[in-house]
Amino acid sequence: LCGPPGTGKTTSIHALARTMLGDAYKEAVLELNASDARGIDTVRGRIKMFAQKKVTLPPGKHKIVILDEADSMTSQAQQAMRRTMELYSSTTRFALACNISTKIIEPIQSRCAILRYSRLSDEEITTRLRQVCEAEDVGYAPEGIDAIVFTAEGDMRHALNNLQSTVSGFSYVSQENVFKVCDQPHPVTVQSILGSCSKKDLYAAIDLLQGLYDSGYSAQDIIGTFFRVCRSDSTMNEDVKLAFVREIGFVHMRIAEGMGSLLQLEGLMAKLCQLEN
Ligand SMILES: Nc1ncnc2c1ncn2[C@@H]1O[C@H](COP(=O)(O)OP(=O)(O)O)[C@@H](O)[C@H]1O
Ligand SMILES: [Mg+2]
Repeated sequence: LCGPPGTGKTTSIHALARTMLGDAYKEAVLELNASDARGIDTVRGRIKMFAQKKVTLPPGKHKIVILDEADSMTSQAQQAMRRTMELYSSTTRFALACNISTKIIEPIQSRCAILRYSRLSDEEITTRLRQVCEAEDVGYAPEGIDAIVFTAEGDMRHALNNLQSTVSGFSYVSQENVFKVCDQPHPVTVQSILGSCSKKDLYAAIDLLQGLYDSGYSAQDIIGTFFRVCRSDSTMNEDVKLAFVREIGFVHMRIAEGMGSLLQLEGLMAKLCQLEN
């Protein structure tokens, strides 16, 4: 399974293993993740030993070796695994989870069925967060949930953590509380900056931007929020949005290269004001 963090890879593997093995789970599963030693010795020793171990399972069921965060295994360790995977395939199945599939060596990839996980959609996260709030009896405003979804960027773990922090800090999930906890440039401010740019009101845009910059956010934080707000803006027409995103992208690149000054961001404002819309 490969895909970005917080999209349910580890959870899926465990759920699958539990469903398949039931009570035998404890005996028939070997889980190793990035915090365990997984060098070549472990592969030769523990994994091989487990593969050879006799466990009585119902017919058609296999032992499972779970290698979480497999992209952090060295390629030697992966090399050592390929023979084991083949040799014991009649009794043992391997489940690997990773973020970046290219870090898994080709021979292993060709022995696996690859499932790609993508970032969760905003609707999926919203539904889940509501369920959690209701189950935990937490008060929330719909805008509060939207704010968490906005900060989570498709990562369910991030969403749940931010929900937890907001509830610990303020016990009520409102937009204001979420942004206090997550401490990001406020999307509503960024939205009004973009609005000013659409109206070609450069000075208003720069005033608001200055306010954000002075409250201590780095150019990285600000430009990131610009991108996300612009992308999720439903009021802009598509052509204008694409043109905006393009300019934001260029400035993002320059900031990533180290040029994160206020002037850089102000330049972006000027560019955006110049665009036809
Ligand atoms: N699709 C999903 N629906 C509901 N909850 C999810 C989903 N994906 C992940 N989660 C929750 O997010 C958290 C992190 O999931 P995890 O499986 O550890 O992610 P990964 O291993 O992909 O980084 C867990 O609490 C899990 O229950
Ligand atoms: Mg995981």
